Amino acid sequence: NRRVTVHDIAAATARGEKWPMLTAYDAMTASVFDEAGIPVMLVGDSMGNCHLGYETTVPVTMDEIAILSAAVVRGTKRALVVADLPFGAYQESPVQALRNATRLIKESGVGAVKLEGGERSHEQIKLLVDAGIPVMAHIGLTPQSVNAMGYRVQGRGEEAAQQMLRDAKAVQDAGAFAVVLELVPAELAAEVTRTLHIPTVGIGAGPDTDAQVLVYTDMVGLTGGKVPRFTKQYADLRQILGDAAKAYADEVAGGTFPAPEHTFH
Ligand code: KIV
Ligand code: NA
Repeated sequence: NRRVTVHDIAAATARGEKWPMLTAYDAMTASVFDEAGIPVMLVGDSMGNCHLGYETTVPVTMDEIAILSAAVVRGTKRALVVADLPFGAYQESPVQALRNATRLIKESGVGAVKLEGGERSHEQIKLLVDAGIPVMAHIGLTPQSVNAMGYRVQGRGEEAAQQMLRDAKAVQDAGAFAVVLELVPAELAAEVTRTLHIPTVGIGAGPDTDAQVLVYTDMVGLTGGKVPRFTKQYADLRQILGDAAKAYADEVAGGTFPAPEHTFH
């Protein structure tokens, strides 16, 4: 029972199969998704907002990514685990990118890394791929640049659409095995998907990409407050966990937990 490889997902896309990716930040959740058959798990820097309590992905460190990536690898048997390179871990130079990606491959045991940027990250992607590290690219909305770009749909208008196509070709030329398209109009995402031979992975990019990705805390209804319109809530875990905690608290207060069957003499 070997793990899914980048060749397996390329083959799935070549067969016309659409595949799902989910984020995971801990071993237990990752094991649930692995057993459910999710083939690709992303240890996203969305751990900043969704797991570590930061406001954005910007503060996430290499140490945090390395520790949680190792946990997700330990929790999975089948999935290809992809780890994000966090903000500041690759922008300086291709050599910096290689040093940090190598750490995630060797220390955490992931099968691939992801980094943000199209043309601007071409040299980084190329050096990693030359060194034997599979790279997933990420264009469109790139949350590590939130301070410069905000959170809005990318690629609207002819000029921005042409730039997105150039970015998509740049990451493919650099050797990326797949590319995330985040918050992109569906028509443009479809055009990028037709133009590239590597799989496109959409989030807020409509139905015509080769694969989809969701942040798992949004997908299971764990995220408090407002979630983006492009996500879909397949469960209400926030309600379920809250109800369980209240039932436990009530039984402790009422003296009905622990009962005789939970008690040793
Ligand atoms: O960090 C993350 O979860 C991501 C996905 C939204 C693609 O980069
Ligand atoms: Na990310």
